[in-house]
Amino acid sequence: MPVTTRQIGPCFAAEVDGIDLTRPLSSADVKAVHAGMDEYAVLVFHDQKLDDEQQLAFSRGLGELEHAVGTSLRAPDEYRLPTTFADVSNLDKDNNVFARDDRRRLFAIGNRLWHSDSSFKVVPAKYSILHARAIPSKGGNTEFADMRAAYDALDAETRAEIEDLICEHSQIFSRQQLGFFDFTEEERARFKPVRQRLVRTHPSTGRKSLYLASHAGGIIGWPVPEARAFLRDLTEHATQRQFVYAHTWRVGDLVMWDNRRTMHRARPFPVHEPRDMRRTTLVGEATI
Ligand code: OGA
Ligand code: MN
Repeated sequence: MPVTTRQIGPCFAAEVDGIDLTRPLSSADVKAVHAGMDEYAVLVFHDQKLDDEQQLAFSRGLGELEHAVGTSLRAPDEYRLPTTFADVSNLDKDNNVFARDDRRRLFAIGNRLWHSDSSFKVVPAKYSILHARAIPSKGGNTEFADMRAAYDALDAETRAEIEDLICEHSQIFSRQQLGFFDFTEEERARFKPVRQRLVRTHPSTGRKSLYLASHAGGIIGWPVPEARAFLRDLTEHATQRQFVYAHTWRVGDLVMWDNRRTMHRARPFPVHEPRDMRRTTLVGEATI
């Protein structure tokens, strides 16, 4: 069956048919997936009954895996999944839903702010590959914003102003926005800010896009309040409805996005219902 894509978002995002991700992909399939990512930035594959090994095999076939070590508040002995996965669920090691005030859950609520994965790492993420194993009865959508279209829609003066700006990114900045200040000394050291360009050029398409995230808490050389107000204005611009695709999950959906030219955010869902989402992530390239 030939691989087909059908655009579903306003200016990006497509559904892919004709590919079974439980089986090894041919090199033509791998090429088609990368080409689809270059064109649409978000790809949706429905009805993929993958286990962890199959998700890893599919992901490794596309590039080098990022390991999720020390990026959440789970201690190493609290990991539910191997470090080849980012555990995006609300579940503890024994598959119990976190209590409402569990600090690991509160930290993870940071995913409800617009962000790009691992922008707080010197080498941030390329693709994120998120698979739905269990979903809540309502809510829990994931929204995606097209940062290339948002860049293209800026006026020339703003484009010139931001061209060479460098931001500082840290998970501390994103959590501060939600009133979460409860970090240990060890966590503060671990979440030390890193620098990222505000405008980045996509290596395969040569197109520019905004590189924003709620993790961005400063611009080098700018006073902090002015930088934060400016970044907030840019984020508001970039996340207008005409740039956003909202994904309503079904169990078995696999959604893959290019963090270099999109932002995303989780939407709320009932606190006591399990939501088991497992993310594999490909390593990207440093922006500086
Ligand atoms: C992620 C993420 C959003 C969601 O997997 O990186 O931010 O809806 N997920 O779970
Ligand atoms: Mn994310």
